Amino acid sequence: MTIERNTMSQHDRSPVTVIGLGAMGTRIAEVLLAGGHPTTVWNRTPGRADPLVAQGAVGSGDVAEAITASPLVIVCVLDYAAAREIVEPVAGELAGRTVIHYTTGTPRQAREMAQWAAAHGIEYVDSGMMATPPMIGKDGARFLYSGSKDAFERYRSGLELLGTAEYFGEDAGLASLYDLALLSAMYGMFAGFFHGAALVGSAGVPAADFAGQAAAWVTAMTAGLPYDAAFIDSGDYTTADEQTIAFNKSGFDTIVQASREEGVAVDLVAPLQALLAHQVAEGNGAASFARVFEGIRAGR
Ligand SMILES: NC(=O)c1ccc[n+]([C@@H]2O[C@H](COP(=O)([O-])OP(=O)(O)OC[C@H]3O[C@@H](n4cnc5c(N)ncnc54)[C@H](OP(=O)(O)O)[C@@H]3O)[C@@H](O)[C@H]2O)c1
Repeated sequence: MTIERNTMSQHDRSPVTVIGLGAMGTRIAEVLLAGGHPTTVWNRTPGRADPLVAQGAVGSGDVAEAITASPLVIVCVLDYAAAREIVEPVAGELAGRTVIHYTTGTPRQAREMAQWAAAHGIEYVDSGMMATPPMIGKDGARFLYSGSKDAFERYRSGLELLGTAEYFGEDAGLASLYDLALLSAMYGMFAGFFHGAALVGSAGVPAADFAGQAAAWVTAMTAGLPYDAAFIDSGDYTTADEQTIAFNKSGFDTIVQASREEGVAVDLVAPLQALLAHQVAEGNGAASFARVFEGIRAGR
């Protein structure tokens, strides 16, 4: 295993317990172990700890015993239901310790878990992982954190082994909120790419050819994000440039029409067409394209 981040720098080397040894939990444990943290691991299905034990981790068959080995307990399982199923029976053992929770969930789930933790004397930090398993411990991995600032600061240098550690605030739901918002932007990009690939594919163009074109175009267009954000944050969508609702509706109607003509499904593009049409119907044709945000925020 190659660890490319921070392993030689001074950092916290607190004992850590990792609960959940799926693809992500295993990689988290590997990186912390290689970074010098005495690491205890537990997984529901026995056997998944074996490779980590071979690398020096302590495997435990009992979750309560695993927890009492470390002041810091990392939980990374499939979903919140699984996480709650694991931690609730061992609240007593977790009391006085810190839980950093990496399982992906909603902001509400994170806040509810933070409330549960506070009621049991457990310090709680929630995290959103902007990484895939092979990225963890390497440049490019990004971890978002929210919840207890004291705990985040105490363990921060060790957490930096996993990837860039960014803290968003005491509201435990914030890491999840940012995580899901960033993923929304990512999925929008991929969805747009898939639709575009289907369009050029109707003329026999390989997706590989289109990928380079799309990457260059989308990269250039990201420069417009702060411009749109300024309209959204001010709530004033008055614009003198051509990027109006009416201008974009016309362009977008053409995309939808071309898709239909070429036999490409419009499932991905029809919702934005509807949002633009709604803005025009409301008399906002001359407003900035960014006004689409208002329709999304209002739930239509
Ligand atoms: N993989 C990614 O690229 C990625 C990226 C970002 C975020 N995430 C998030 O990270 C979390 C973990 O993902 P992963 O890829 O590591 O998943 P995974 O490989 O499918 O592993 C799931 C883990 O959850 C455990 N688990 C499931 N149900 C359980 C239950 N009822 N009780 C106890 N343990 C249970 C599994 O234990 P068993 O071994 O016993 O089945 C396993 O350790 C998920 O929330 C995922 O959305 C994943």
